[in-house]
Amino acid sequence: MLAVTPQRMRMIVEGFIDVLELGLEKEGQMVPMLPTWVFGWPTGEEKGSYLAVDLGGTNLRVCEVELEGNGKFAITQSKYKLTDEQKVGDGQALFDFCAECLASFIQDHYTNEDGSVLLDKDIALGFTFSYPCVQERIDHGLLLRWTKGFGAAGVEGQDVVEMFKKSLQKNNVPVEITALINDTTGTLMASHYVDPRTRMGIIFGTGCNCAYVEKVKNIPKIAHLGLPGDAELAINCEWGAFDSETKEYLPRTKYDIHIDETSNKPGQQLFEKMIAGLYLGEVFRLVLCDMIEEGVLFHGQNTYKLDKPFCFDTALVSLIEADSTDELLTVIGLFSHFYSLETTVEERKFFKRLAVAIGTRAARLSACGIAAVCSKMGYLEEGGCGVATDGSLYNKYPKFPERIHEALVDIFGEKGRLIHTYHAEDGSGVGAAIIAAMAQERKAKGLYPQV
Ligand code: GLC
Repeated sequence: MLAVTPQRMRMIVEGFIDVLELGLEKEGQMVPMLPTWVFGWPTGEEKGSYLAVDLGGTNLRVCEVELEGNGKFAITQSKYKLTDEQKVGDGQALFDFCAECLASFIQDHYTNEDGSVLLDKDIALGFTFSYPCVQERIDHGLLLRWTKGFGAAGVEGQDVVEMFKKSLQKNNVPVEITALINDTTGTLMASHYVDPRTRMGIIFGTGCNCAYVEKVKNIPKIAHLGLPGDAELAINCEWGAFDSETKEYLPRTKYDIHIDETSNKPGQQLFEKMIAGLYLGEVFRLVLCDMIEEGVLFHGQNTYKLDKPFCFDTALVSLIEADSTDELLTVIGLFSHFYSLETTVEERKFFKRLAVAIGTRAARLSACGIAAVCSKMGYLEEGGCGVATDGSLYNKYPKFPERIHEALVDIFGEKGRLIHTYHAEDGSGVGAAIIAAMAQERKAKGLYPQV
């Protein structure tokens, strides 16, 4: 059920390429291919001190980034946990919380001994807001829809920069929002800053998405702006939405359908829901529940602790796969500790195979997205490309990168080896600072808002 054959992958890639092109051609498509108004690449010489706020999924992060030029930087940061209520409560309150955290960060890092704030002018801030936003310029963005389980009221359809500004003013925070950034675009630029081979930025975390750089002449939907055709513009694909309307490419199982139908956004982000960290643990749990129902697992035991949706974190699935002991000792501990369940060695071996299958499927589907962008852009013909990648799935799930590479060879044959993925620089922090610096420079040169 969880297998994705090479033939199926090639079929998905074909469909994916069409969908990417459609998003560039027309507004309002399923995969929206959003212009980010980040033009070209960083030079590596961007310098200065910037603040970054990163609202991405699990945590809120505030960073101070010192860009030193030469592809070098230093970063200081604080993390704040977001509660489930904040994710789905009042939207303005969520931005208020961001502003309060930023205010306390500034208090801690920019205060004189007498308590006065040590700033002669507003500091430039890059706001990493990793949800699909339609941007008219780099410091603007209408939230198209929440993803990753968020649902805060009164934000969809609104300019999130304006909402955040309102909260900053309320809290007297001395910053100027210079750029609104998606984590994938940040990853792309931050990685290119240190390694110019980088062509794509991908997040495999709570969500899954990709950004790359496109020539303006290949983006028909912005032709009316009259920008130079050879100018290069970063595109936030929002590929997590792939196949959401078509429903003809992805090999969805009854578990995927259940996850989608019981989510706060049914019918959306169908590709993401088969790949991303938010969902893989739930796929695992649903398979177990099915087998409990059939009477083939945990004989004679009370399994009620597995009944709660999303109680099986994806991190546990990766721990199961990572257990290399013969008896699968970590798996014993994990089931008895979290779910008060005894397991037989056969059950544990099955769990490990299931973890392998779920992780492998996610990696193979991800490879289809990478292959689609590479084919569309002709990167293989240019001798290959670098794919900067971040997120807990890529960094922590056993063999995730190897499985992507294997799948790329299944799709392209030996040529697939020309695509290199590697762990990215911190896109949401350092990337945000670099993009804020690039935006500031364009503004200083009068190249604003867009051209
Ligand atoms: C979701 C968001 C997207 C983000 C990705 C990774 O897909 O819609 O904007 O880049 O998660 O965080």
